Amino acid sequence: MSPAHNRVHVMHGVNLDQIGRRDPIHYGGMTLVQLERRIDGYADELRLDARFFQTNHEGEFVEELHRVADLADGLIVNAGAWSHYSRAIGDALEFAGVPAVEVHLSDIMSREPWRHVSVLEESCFATVMGKGVEGYREALVALSERLGG
Ligand code: DQA
Repeated sequence: MSPAHNRVHVMHGVNLDQIGRRDPIHYGGMTLVQLERRIDGYADELRLDARFFQTNHEGEFVEELHRVADLADGLIVNAGAWSHYSRAIGDALEFAGVPAVEVHLSDIMSREPWRHVSVLEESCFATVMGKGVEGYREALVALSERLGG
């Protein structure tokens, strides 16, 4: 893979900054800082350059997606609850035009019915759910293949 095509932007949305304090059954015990450190390690192994972004503000998430084509070659998106209803984020993700993988720490399909729908899915080439931190490794491998690694 050419070094110019290895930048992965890992975007966490609403309430993901609170993992470590949220229900460990669904989200494990790691804090976001610990999770990002693990993802960074996986990225290094795959010779990907991971950058991280988190916000609890939908407009900031949208504006980051507006910039992302200049910042990254691939995207990992865990938008939290926004995944289930934010058409604004869905539109911005489509507009970004960067290969994206949707990740959820928990298995959204075995939780409440309102979590079964993702409005981001159609703008992502893969979805990984219910695998905790390991899901991010899977997403990075998928992106690495997609980017020609
Ligand atoms: C989540 C699943 C969402 O349903 C939830 O609202 C989250 C986290 C996950 O990683 O499992 O905040 O995206």
